[in-house]
Amino acid sequence: MKFDILTIFPESIKEYINTSILKIAQDKGLVEINVHNLRDWAKDKHRTTDDTPFGGGPGMVMKVEPIFNALKDLKEENTVVVLTSPKGEKLVQSKLQELSEKDDLHLIIICGRYEGLDQRIHDNLVDYEFSIGDYVLSGGELPALVLVEGVTRLVSGVLGNEESLVDESFNEDKLDYPQYTKPSTFNGWNVPNVLLSGNHKDITNWREQNRGK
Ligand SMILES: C[S@@+](CC[C@H](N)C(=O)[O-])C[C@H]1O[C@@H](n2cnc3c(N)ncnc32)[C@H](O)[C@@H]1O
Repeated sequence: MKFDILTIFPESIKEYINTSILKIAQDKGLVEINVHNLRDWAKDKHRTTDDTPFGGGPGMVMKVEPIFNALKDLKEENTVVVLTSPKGEKLVQSKLQELSEKDDLHLIIICGRYEGLDQRIHDNLVDYEFSIGDYVLSGGELPALVLVEGVTRLVSGVLGNEESLVDESFNEDKLDYPQYTKPSTFNGWNVPNVLLSGNHKDITNWREQNRGK
């Protein structure tokens, strides 16, 4: 599985992908994550990736040419070009699961900035647009990381204990049950007695009853 992330702020992504689960997944050779500076595909001497909007209005719009050139270089036979966008399809766990099951998956993820992208990119160059929620961030870097991490942790062999995926929130349209760890009493706050009982049947029942929906 391979991710190529296109951004004008590569440093903001590099630290995160070299931490914890994403680092482990790369070290195990289960995923490849490349971060590219979109400016490398801008042809002018200032490496410009944005310009003023036709028709006027505030802010800047990301230009079509650098993204077109980057895709030309990075695309492979099976590539899915993905755009981070508040206008996209809302990302849900079942979509992450679907993507994680495709071994030969290659995603190029475009991180927008400013007022967004020239509409011709949406219309002609992108296969899938996703949003991480009904709010507006300043850029697509965090949404790109959400997608990469959400998919990667579901890839077989990435998590040390895959059982932890079984009862997770959003599986079977339910939420995870409450978890507690030592000490059993802290500051007058007690762990439910059933969890200390050692009775596995009662514990399973309690957990099932306490999963949210
Ligand atoms: C400031 S936003 C642009 C917002 C755009 N003018 C609008 O109102 O829809 C800049 C970039 O951040 C990213 N972005 C912001 N919020 C997002 C969200 N909720 N989900 C996915 N991407 C988002 C997109 O790549 C977007 O092009």
